[in-house]
Amino acid sequence: MHVLVTGGAGFIGRRLAAALLARGDRVRVLDNFDDAYDPALKAVPEGAELVRGDVCDGGTVRRALHGIDGVCHLAGRAGVRESIESPGPYVRNNVAGTLTVLEAMAKRHVRRLVFASSSSVYGSAAGPFRETDAADRPASPYAASKRAAELFCYSSGLDVTVARLFTVYGPGQRPGMAIAKFVRLARANEEIPVYGDGSSIRDYTWVDDAVDGLIRSLDRADGYNIVNVGGGNPVPLTTMLAAVADATGRQLKVRWLPAQPGDVPVTHADPTVATEWLGWAPRMAFHEGVARYVASL
Ligand SMILES: NC(=O)c1ccc[n+]([C@@H]2O[C@H](COP(=O)([O-])OP(=O)(O)OC[C@H]3O[C@@H](n4cnc5c(N)ncnc54)[C@H](O)[C@@H]3O)[C@@H](O)[C@H]2O)c1
Repeated sequence: MHVLVTGGAGFIGRRLAAALLARGDRVRVLDNFDDAYDPALKAVPEGAELVRGDVCDGGTVRRALHGIDGVCHLAGRAGVRESIESPGPYVRNNVAGTLTVLEAMAKRHVRRLVFASSSSVYGSAAGPFRETDAADRPASPYAASKRAAELFCYSSGLDVTVARLFTVYGPGQRPGMAIAKFVRLARANEEIPVYGDGSSIRDYTWVDDAVDGLIRSLDRADGYNIVNVGGGNPVPLTTMLAAVADATGRQLKVRWLPAQPGDVPVTHADPTVATEWLGWAPRMAFHEGVARYVASL
């Protein structure tokens, strides 16, 4: 297959591009190397073709679609807390950008799409989350932008798999994400600000497991489907901190701070659809994953 990976210079996208190349696909990446974090941390794997440009620009997307059989759309603005401070870029990059990709695909007769959505669309509901659960109470503009983009995917009539990713971690992780930040501060023997009371729970997904879920989603895209790419093994924040302490060999200097707006108490996938429809199952155990992340630095 000849695959376009939007956002393919970012954390998950470049790992996905590399995995597609490894199985023999041709890969083109469309990425604008935005400054949501240091663009020097972004890269495109060897063997992938790079189109440097913005998914909000229809002409650029149409050109990038030339000869393409399927699209993995990961370009967008991530981050819950930042979206509360400044929602505008989330509407532009996540909603308008996705609509632009859908319109360009329809024009170019490319039907197959995987959209990287997020567990955040489930809001503050108690898990485990099922794809059929209502997702109309987003707790942040980020979550709202992902849900809005899902709905545009549905209305496009294309063959779209919406892959709802659950807190992805691993080598190359965005520097602002909790595990990356905590490991960095622990290794520097600095104080670690931790929000909430430690009871929050996240269904962490190792990046290569997430990539496997995205590739299976691409291969199966037929009509409109939603799938949770999350293993159903949620980890309390205190356990995550213990894993960071073990992996870094440091005693953490935690400073507890009040919970932040937009942070949901629980993310917890029901992985039945991923298991039964995609034959997907995560392979990485959480403690081992954190140790491998630290070893990758
Ligand atoms: N990391 C996670 O835990 C997680 C969880 C759920 C969903 N997601 C989604 O998966 C996708 C990838 O996440 P990530 O963690 O790799 O983030 P990332 O920021 O590392 O990657 C996003 C990439 O998209 C590019 N980009 C942003 N706006 C663009 C635009 N308008 N045009 C072209 N390129 C643009 C950026 O330059 C970046 O390289 C995002 O859509 C994110 O919302 C991530």
